[in-house]
Amino acid sequence: MAVRVVVGTQWGDEGKGKYIDMLAKNSDLVVRFSGGNNAGHTIVADGVKYALHLVPSGILHKGRVCIIGNGVVVDPAVLIKEMNDLNGRGISTDNLLVSDRAHVIMPYHKELDELQEKFRGNNSLGTTKRGIGPAYADKTDRCGIRMCDFIDSEEFALKVKENLRLKNQLIEKVYGGKAFDADQIIEEYTEYARILRNHITDVNAFIADAVDAGKEILFEGAQATFLDLDFGTYPYVTSSNPVAGGVCTGAGIGPVCIDEVFGVLKAYTSRVGSGPFPTEQNNAIGDTIRELGWEYGTTTGRPRRCGWLDTVMIRYAARVNGLTGLAINHLDTIGKLDKIKLCTSYIKDGAIIRHFPASLKELAKCVPVYEEFDSWKEDISGVRSFEELPANAKKYLLRIEEFVGVKIKLIGVGKDREQTITV
Ligand code: GDP
Ligand code: IMO
Ligand code: MG
Repeated sequence: MAVRVVVGTQWGDEGKGKYIDMLAKNSDLVVRFSGGNNAGHTIVADGVKYALHLVPSGILHKGRVCIIGNGVVVDPAVLIKEMNDLNGRGISTDNLLVSDRAHVIMPYHKELDELQEKFRGNNSLGTTKRGIGPAYADKTDRCGIRMCDFIDSEEFALKVKENLRLKNQLIEKVYGGKAFDADQIIEEYTEYARILRNHITDVNAFIADAVDAGKEILFEGAQATFLDLDFGTYPYVTSSNPVAGGVCTGAGIGPVCIDEVFGVLKAYTSRVGSGPFPTEQNNAIGDTIRELGWEYGTTTGRPRRCGWLDTVMIRYAARVNGLTGLAINHLDTIGKLDKIKLCTSYIKDGAIIRHFPASLKELAKCVPVYEEFDSWKEDISGVRSFEELPANAKKYLLRIEEFVGVKIKLIGVGKDREQTITV
């Protein structure tokens, strides 16, 4: 039996979906524990591409039970569409369960996300505008609507009306937006509740029983360490805890149940949205990486900012997640450049530092220190063992391990789930 967690170590889009799909093959249960449809996980299976936002990436394997945990915020319309799309492609969603404690993304959350971003002007966070932040804000403000309320028509109507008393004032009077009609929302969401009702249950008891029964359980991280509300580049973060600790609160298991934590990274770094990025290459190198790696957002289609791999970040991610292994992607992509740089530390105020500062002002003073590597410029997309990799690729990987202090267990050499080296 093993309980495994897959988390992102950078700013998201590291290729978590690909590894979750791969590990799901031998898992009984795949559980999402944080975030919402701000996530976009791409899986390429036998040349066919799938982009999942809410449904756990284990769904492509027949018979796996896929769970959306209490730590996730769920937009019912998006979930239904995603389920329909999968069904239309011959993939069953009968085994999909949603926690009755998960919070519902409401139309006013999406509207507020838009309006708040506009209000921030030049200081906007670059959110996905999916209502994620406002939904989590209501959760902590104790006025959120949970799945158990969503399927209880009486309770739902009361909660919508109560919420709109304040939200409509805020939308109209502060942000100059248009008020929502309670009855319209209730009608629309009642239909969603009818469709989803059979999937909504006490998944926490289900997960606990699976742990007790010694089942293989995989926890699917969304977003990443540097988007974490506590450990990321605040305020340029998402509103949940995508780090491994989020599994305990977002799915309801004790920390000692977890056996393995895989940290996924790219052989370079990318970021979508605003915020600091020490090794960013806002130049021809960054443009080349973007085109070679096809770095455009799975959720919003925005071009991703690209730069060199930063081991200060990955070492920090190893610590806050308790990583037991690294899974690195896009080794094929980075090998197409002439030279590769790896950030090994920062220089701040004349001194070398090896930690990631909390203050964005301090972070802005950090100048990356790089080691340069010769590239390999060979097609490695067909390589399936570490030994077969070009010498320069091995050198690069071993140096990453050395700086991070965690072993590389999986290496991605292409988009397809089969294009993986297990070390
Ligand atoms: P996630 O959000 O962490 O699941 O990652 P995304 O799916 O948003 O972004 C990862 C992108 O990289 C997707 O387009 C993947 O198909 C692609 N990808 C993943 N691993 C590799 C790899 O090893 N090589 C290449 N060339 N592409 C990869
Ligand atoms: P996956 O799971 C990359 C970013 C947004 C924005 C910030 C806040 O695919 O790795 P939000 O809508 O969450 O309030 O936006 O977080 N962001 C992501 N960036 N990958 C993701 O998920 C992301 N989820 C949120 O771009 O900068
Ligand atoms: Mg993504």
